Amino acid sequence: MNLSRMNTDQAKHKIEELRKELHAHNHKYYVLDAPEISDQQFDMLLKELESLESKFPEFDDPNSPTRRVGSGITDKFEKVKHKYPMLSLSNTYSIEEIEAWEERIKKSIDQPVTYVCELKYDGVAIGITYIDGKLHRAVTRGDGQTGEDVTANVRTISTIPLSLTGDYPEEFEIRGEIFLPLQAFTEMNKRRVEAGEDPYMNPRNTASGSLKLQDSNVVAERGLDCFLYGLYGENLPGQSHSENMEAARSWGFKVPTYENRQIEKCSDIKGIESFIAHWDKERHALPFEIDGVVLKVDSYQYQDELGFTAKSPRWATSYKFKAEQASTILERVTFQVGRTGAITPVANLKPVVLAGTTVKRASLHNADQIEKLDLREGDTVFVEKGGEIIPKVVGVDITKRPIDSEHFTYISECPECGTPLIRNEGEAQHFCPNTLTCPPQVSGRIDHFISRKAMNIDGLGTETVDQLIREGLIQNPADLYDLQKDDVLKLERMAEKSAQNLIDGVEASKAIPFERVLFALGIRYVGETVAKKLAKHFKTIEALIAADQEQLVAVEEIGERIAESVVAYLNDPAHIAMIERLKSRGLQFELEESDGPSSNLLEGKSFVVSGVFNQMSRNELKQAIEANGGKVLSGVSKKTDYLVAGDNMGPSKRQKAEDFGVKIIDEQRFIEMISA
Ligand code: IVH
Repeated sequence: MNLSRMNTDQAKHKIEELRKELHAHNHKYYVLDAPEISDQQFDMLLKELESLESKFPEFDDPNSPTRRVGSGITDKFEKVKHKYPMLSLSNTYSIEEIEAWEERIKKSIDQPVTYVCELKYDGVAIGITYIDGKLHRAVTRGDGQTGEDVTANVRTISTIPLSLTGDYPEEFEIRGEIFLPLQAFTEMNKRRVEAGEDPYMNPRNTASGSLKLQDSNVVAERGLDCFLYGLYGENLPGQSHSENMEAARSWGFKVPTYENRQIEKCSDIKGIESFIAHWDKERHALPFEIDGVVLKVDSYQYQDELGFTAKSPRWATSYKFKAEQASTILERVTFQVGRTGAITPVANLKPVVLAGTTVKRASLHNADQIEKLDLREGDTVFVEKGGEIIPKVVGVDITKRPIDSEHFTYISECPECGTPLIRNEGEAQHFCPNTLTCPPQVSGRIDHFISRKAMNIDGLGTETVDQLIREGLIQNPADLYDLQKDDVLKLERMAEKSAQNLIDGVEASKAIPFERVLFALGIRYVGETVAKKLAKHFKTIEALIAADQEQLVAVEEIGERIAESVVAYLNDPAHIAMIERLKSRGLQFELEESDGPSSNLLEGKSFVVSGVFNQMSRNELKQAIEANGGKVLSGVSKKTDYLVAGDNMGPSKRQKAEDFGVKIIDEQRFIEMISA
C-alpha cells in the first residue's frame, strides 16, 4: 500500500507487524547466530519502519528496533530503588572453602541437591525489568539498594531483546552481566593509540564507563554484550533457577549454553571441582574475560531454606581464579618515544614464565605509576597478566630490596634527541616537543602515514622507511612523493622490482580520499573517526585550516582537547608547508562527494557481509558493493563468491564459508577490489 494513502489504523498495524518481524530477525541474528534473511532484506524492512515511524510519530516506541543505534543524550542518570536488592556473592580463592560450602549445604538440606555451575563474567551487573514483554527499564547495581537508570544505553546492546516472544510473565526482572568482548576492547584501544590517546586499562572498566556515557549513539558503536543469569518476579514459570533460565532463553534472552559447558548442572563437589578445573585452564580461550565461576543451588525451595547472610545468599558462592602472577627482577627502566612524542616507560625484566609465555618486558604506563609503586631498578617485582597482551608490574617485594637501592628519578630529557621533556597540566604522560627532528617521531610519523588505514602505500615498510631516513632521502611524508626510482635503487638490498613497487605504491596513494589523508597526517587525537567527521564537516583543508577552536568544538563529537590539538597542528608553519607540498604533488585535500553507481568492477560477483567494520559501516559496505555492480546476498551459500568478514562475525558464518569454499576477505581487501 502506498505510504501516503495509509490511514492511521493501517499504519499502526503495519508498524506493529514490522516491529515484530524485525525483533524476531534480530534475535535470530544476534542471539542464535542463525540469520534467516539477508542483511539487505533486514535493512529494507528497517527502512520501511523508519519511514512509517517518522510519518506517524504518535506511534513512537523507545523499544522499536529502529532505536538500536542509540537515541541521543542522557543528561543525568536517574536514581532508581531496586525492587529486589542486588546482593553480591561470597567469594573465595580456595577449593577447601568451596568444599566447606558444599558440606554446609548438604548438612542443612537433607535431600539430594542439584548445583548449577556458571561462569563469573567480569563486567557490570544489570537488572532489566520487562513489562508486557517490552523492555521497560535497565538499572545498574549501584550500592545494591539503589542503582542508576541506564535504559537508553542498554537498549543499544544487540543481544538484549527489546520485545519478547512466547509465554512470559506480565512483569519480571532479569539480571545479568554486561561486558565488552576482548576483540572489541583490543580494537578500541588500537584506535585510541592511533589517535594518540591513552588506551583503556581493562575491558571491565571500559564496559562500566561505556554504560555511563551520555551519548547512547556512541555506546551503540562499542560492541557491548550481555549474558543473563537470574530471574526475579512474582509469577515465574519454574520452581528452579535452571528451569527459569531456560524459559528466559525461550523468550529471547541470551542465556549461557550447556553445549560448550558455559553452564553445567551437577549433584556433588566432584562435579563442581571438575567445572572449576576445566575453566581454570580454558578461560584464556574465551572471547571475553571471566574472573571465576559461580555456584548456585538450583531449587528455589532449597534456596529459601538456606536463606541469606547480611550481604549475600548462602545458596550461592563464587570461586575466583588467581590472576596469573610471577615475581622477577626489574633490571632496568627504559623509555620509548611514540610517534606523537609521548614517552612510555618500559620495565625490562629478568625473563620469567607467566601464563605459558616468557615475559621480558612490562608496561609501566607513566611517571606517576613508578612513583606510586616506588619502583627502583634492581627491585624484585610482581608481574601480572590481565586483559592485555602486555603484562604489567603490580607491586614490589620490599623484603628483597637491595640495601644500596636508590630512588628512581624520571628522565627530564628525551632519550632519543636530548630535548627537555614537557608535561602538560592534567596529563599523565611526558612529551618530547621536538616533533620535527626527533628520530622516532620522524619515523613513527612516516610509518603511520603509509599504514594500511592511512595512505596504504604498498611496497613500503618500516625497515625501508628507516633506511630512507638514514640515507637522508626522506624526513617527512611529503618527501616520499619526490623519491626517484634511482634513489631508491641505491638502498642496500633493494631490487629493481621492489623499487618499482615502492614508486607505484606512492603514486597510487594519490587517489586516497581526503579523510584518510587527514588521518594520515597523524595529528594527535585525530583518529579515523575524528578525521572522517572533520573531513565531512569542513570539506576542504583550507576550511579546516581557517577554523578556530570554537568552530571546531561546534562539530559533533569534537571536544576541547581534539580542537586544541588540531589548531596547534595547523598553526605550525612547518606543517602548513608540508601540506602545501603534499597538495602540489596531487594528494586529495578535498572531500569527494560520491553519487550513484561508480563502476562495474564487481559485476557478476555476489557477497555476504558480516560483522563490524572499521573504515565503513556495514551499510556503506553494502552500498559500495551495489554501486560497483555486485550483488549482496543473504546467508552464505554455494552461490556466494565472497564473504566480507568484519570483527565479531559469528563463527558459524565463517565455518559455512569454509565448507562452501567461499573466499573470505577483510574490509581492506574489499576496498582494494573497488579501488582497482
Ligand atoms: S548471581 C545473589 N551469576 O558477580 C547472586 N553473578 O559478586 C547474584 N556475576 O554482582 C549474582 N557472573 O555482577 C551471578 N553467573 C553469574 C555471575 C554473576 C558474574 C557478578 C555479578 C554480581 C557479582 C557478585
